[in-house]
Amino acid sequence: MRKNLWIAAAALIGLGLIGGTVWAAEVEMCVPMGTITLEPLSAEAKRVSVEFPHAVHFGYSCQQCHHTWDRESTISGCSTQGCHDLAELPKGEDGRPSKDAALQARYFKNAYHSMCIGCHKAVNQENRKLQATRIPTDQKLAASGPTGCIQCHPTE
Ligand code: HEC
Ligand code: HEC
Ligand code: HEC
Repeated sequence: MRKNLWIAAAALIGLGLIGGTVWAAEVEMCVPMGTITLEPLSAEAKRVSVEFPHAVHFGYSCQQCHHTWDRESTISGCSTQGCHDLAELPKGEDGRPSKDAALQARYFKNAYHSMCIGCHKAVNQENRKLQATRIPTDQKLAASGPTGCIQCHPTE
């Protein structure tokens, strides 16, 4: 279960300002500030559930991840019906994995992996570019997140 501190709307507006965002409207909702345990949809999980430190990511805009959020309603989970709600990789009529990108993105594992690992890798890539410029610079390398399997799924 989620072990979180929950904060309410007033604090949320403050967070918006840290992210450099001015809120168009006030939204009443509880925002998990601690670690969210991301559970697989699959009937039998191959890997240990992922502990996701939510607030560590609040330097980004909320919509970076909650990409369909309209800023007016409350934010709902990633596997809400019609979103990333497929427990298995969708197959085409020939029984092979579907090549339909929209359908593939509904497979929860693809959605999480491309978002989480995709961003961590992009940060690392930027850091490598910075290191490769060889121009003396005071600019610090940016902190990044895990990209290896067992870093996110701690044991087999
Ligand atoms: C940045 C974190 C992250 C990394 C790195 C990562 N995963 Fe995941 N993975 C997730 C999340 C989040 C989910 C969806 C929630 C869940 O299943 O716990 C997931 C789901 C899965 C699932 C489907 C659920 C299950 O347990 O059967 C598998 C399989 C999986 N990952 C394997 C891997 C493998 C193999 C690697 C390394 C190549 C890897 N993951 C790397 C975050 C990560
Ligand atoms: C780096 C990605 C990321 C960022 C940035 C992010 N979140 Fe989240 N948030 C998540 C994930 C993943 C979940 C878990 C969703 C689930 O369990 O399906 C979540 C869950 C939530 C939930 C609970 C939703 C539910 O299932 O009931 C709320 C509310 C929320 N976030 C609000 C925010 C707000 C407000 C911001 C901006 C200050 C924000 N999030 C920024 C990834 C992010
Ligand atoms: C838009 C970019 C972005 C996305 C999306 C993102 N992360 Fe991260 N993540 C980061 C950055 C940057 C850090 C380093 C933050 C820091 O240490 O200040 C980080 C750090 C982490 C850490 C290490 C935290 C620590 O305290 O050392 C974990 C674990 C993590 N992310 C998991 C995830 C998972 C799981 C997801 C998907 C649900 C995800 N991240 C999505 C950018 C992202």
